[in-house]
Amino acid sequence: MKILVVNGPNLNLLGIREPDIYGKSTYASLVQMIKDHCAKCNVSCECFQSNHEGDIVDKIQNAYSRFDGIVINPAAYTHTSVAILDALKAVNIPTVEVHISNVNSREEFRRISYVSLFAFKTIVGKGFEGYLEAIDLLVNLNKDK
Ligand code: DQA
Repeated sequence: MKILVVNGPNLNLLGIREPDIYGKSTYASLVQMIKDHCAKCNVSCECFQSNHEGDIVDKIQNAYSRFDGIVINPAAYTHTSVAILDALKAVNIPTVEVHISNVNSREEFRRISYVSLFAFKTIVGKGFEGYLEAIDLLVNLNKDK
């Protein structure tokens, strides 16, 4: 099984960026955590981060027939991007949406998520653990196939 993990804008600055909200751990440590977890689950994974909407769309398009699941934290694009939603719908790969913070208890605009219209599950407010939970959901879904 192959899982693509996509992180959107400013998540490369984890550790530096608003640590009260996103924690003190870095993006590199998130990637390491994901890789260790995937190795335990016997899953191969690729982690991708970009600050550019079009690059994220390209990456999702490219996943077609190459990946069995997608974990995505579209970051700020969550709340604005019809293009990312449409790319996910186009490739139709089972997707779990993750947010490190609890987007529902922050500013009003963070409650809107376009990606939620496609993702079969949205995990919020669980920090980096949310990514591991998302991977487990995709692994279980794949077992049922
Ligand atoms: C985020 C929440 C978004 O509202 C914000 O723009 C982000 C990160 C999160 O992981 O909590 O960049 O997706």
